[in-house]
Amino acid sequence: MVAILITAGPTREYLDDVRFLGNASSGRMGCALAEAALALGHDATMVLGPVEVTPPAGATVLPVVSALDMLAAADGALERHQIVIAAAAVADWRPARRQAGKPARQPGAMTLELVPNPDVVATLAARPGSRVVVGFALESVSAGMAAAVARGRRKLHDKRLDLCVVNLHDAIGSDAGEFVLCHGDGRDEALPRCDKASAAARIVAAAVDLWRARAPGGV
Ligand code: C5P
Repeated sequence: MVAILITAGPTREYLDDVRFLGNASSGRMGCALAEAALALGHDATMVLGPVEVTPPAGATVLPVVSALDMLAAADGALERHQIVIAAAAVADWRPARRQAGKPARQPGAMTLELVPNPDVVATLAARPGSRVVVGFALESVSAGMAAAVARGRRKLHDKRLDLCVVNLHDAIGSDAGEFVLCHGDGRDEALPRCDKASAAARIVAAAVDLWRARAPGGV
């Protein structure tokens, strides 16, 4: 049995107590990954941003709001896990300052100062240890699969991932899509067009294989 840590859902970066910046993300890919992990007899912990979907029973859920929360929660749980799968849609920036309450709307344009958020999966991948780290590259259909795979390979390298899952999605929130697993050994594994559950099963199996090949004495 392997313990798998999954980041999932969006993050919210609050401007004040009511307004926030965030990405559209249903959290369904993360839930599918947790379900696949549990079905294969593994432990699943989800570091989960605000979502409507219900995580699978049996998963340990660490609820978070912002990217900084997500990194802190994942870091705190990291030592107990052998595999990290980053399916979260983390906001790239957060407001430089958060105001209290709900400041009244002012007429005219407003300028917001943003500061970059940390890259959660790249930060986790740089931590000491031999765990397997999997990231996603979600690309729009118009980019085309070849360009998407090239971007996935760049992310694999830049974020020091063991596996990068390129996903050409039909629409945010849709279930069907095309997936290519970019492996660290240079192989690109295209999955037959499938739903998130089938893709999740293959991704978890590939990550567990990598861990078993690397774990001292096998697991
Ligand atoms: O660079 P990009 O956002 O396309 O990378 C996507 C991958 O990186 C996903 O696995 C996502 O969960 C992760 N990521 C992250 N923290 C960020 C941005 C992306 O963990 N701040």
